[in-house]
Amino acid sequence: MTLDNVLSQIDADLPQALDRLMELLRIPSISTDTAYKADCDRAADWLVEDLKSLGVDAEKRATPGHPMVVGHIDGPGPHVLFYGHYDVQPVDPLNLWDRDPFDPEIQDTAKGRVIRGRGSADDKGQLMTFVEACRAWKAIHGSLPCKITFFFEGEEESGSPSLVPFMKENAAELKADMALICDTGLFESRVPAITTMLRGLLGEELTIKAADKDLHSGYFGGAAANPIRVLSNVISALHDENGKITVPGFYDGVPEVSNSMRAQWDGLGFDAEAFLGGVGLSVPAGEKGRSVLEMIWSRPTCEVNGIWGGYTGDGFKTVIASEAHAKISFRLVGDQDPHAIRESFRTFVEGMLPADCAVEWHAHGASKAGRFDTDNPAYEAARQALSDEWPDTAAYIGCGGSIPIAGHFQNLLATPPVLIGFGKDDDQIHSPNEKYDLESFHKGTRSWARILAALQQAG
Ligand code: BES
Ligand code: ZN
Repeated sequence: MTLDNVLSQIDADLPQALDRLMELLRIPSISTDTAYKADCDRAADWLVEDLKSLGVDAEKRATPGHPMVVGHIDGPGPHVLFYGHYDVQPVDPLNLWDRDPFDPEIQDTAKGRVIRGRGSADDKGQLMTFVEACRAWKAIHGSLPCKITFFFEGEEESGSPSLVPFMKENAAELKADMALICDTGLFESRVPAITTMLRGLLGEELTIKAADKDLHSGYFGGAAANPIRVLSNVISALHDENGKITVPGFYDGVPEVSNSMRAQWDGLGFDAEAFLGGVGLSVPAGEKGRSVLEMIWSRPTCEVNGIWGGYTGDGFKTVIASEAHAKISFRLVGDQDPHAIRESFRTFVEGMLPADCAVEWHAHGASKAGRFDTDNPAYEAARQALSDEWPDTAAYIGCGGSIPIAGHFQNLLATPPVLIGFGKDDDQIHSPNEKYDLESFHKGTRSWARILAALQQAG
């Protein structure tokens, strides 16, 4: 059978596929830091060359930020767009890494072999699973089973500022029968999964200012407003004693999980203890009366992602800082409107400021939650194909993270997104010592070959 030949080719070519991934991982394409602009460009060039080696008509496309990579190759089956991102998160704190984040290596661990390095799981390793599946298919058949458009972005980890304009300008070229997105994970690090719900994201940065200079905390302390204390008050007022967010109107558009969805989630047998235990925690810290799965998939959150001000160096300094800063993000669900929440949050904070204090705002990204319709026959085809590759039957799951482009495919291009990925809960994405299991990479590649075959057959 021809699919078997493709799968055998993937197995035989695994060492070379890993070498290619290592080359890509060595390029430090950190999109948020301008010092790595040339490296982002280099990662895009590398991908263009790699796609060309498969016979894909690929190009780097300039944007006001980092370039996109777009490639096309013809085939008999449906027109499939594949999306991944080649940019990565910053690596700090660097001292917590066991090795250079951009000097990747294959390591033997108690849980099996892993590819260690920044971007191995998010998202270069995932992106390459699809490319390698195509390469193997091409090697066996000389052509591909579907018409494929490749679309790689280099700004995903920094809020995708160029994405929507680019998608609008190139809508006719990018529109397809479906968009495959490889940027999610397995359920419980084991069960193959199609993600059908994503949370939205709203980012806000604020600076609270009081005196016009830093002050001696003995000379002025007691009489002077302290912006760090004001900021702490604001932050502690954002949640009530039940873990609910207090910003007025915040829960507008938050739906309850339907009974059928709840039943399906119950059927997954999620192990909340193991999930929290995996990161050294034991007690869920979210809204009272909600399950852990609800907390991460279907409830909105407000988190402080960073906070700074005053003296944080060695030793001690008795100072009242003139400024305090925080980065705060909200994960959104259902129909929550990020713009309305931004307004309401700002009004809420401004209403809490005492005399002589002012706040300055810096807006970060705003994206709505996404929910994708599994009625599309591509879903069932992909689910079957995944179930053939993995020991467990594939599941439809939610995801607490945010992938705004999935909504853009749906809303801007009328192209239904299908989110499939092979990451595991302990991949440490965005953290030190990020890794991607060899199993994820190898079986992920095999999964895509099966999915392409299934999509061709489904027509
Ligand atoms: N790959 C992640 C999304 C993700 C997170 C999938 C957790 C599965 C589990 C993606 O690259 C990401 O990190 N997205 C950002 C949002 C972006 C707009 C900065 C996120 O979710 O914080
Ligand atoms: Zn990602």
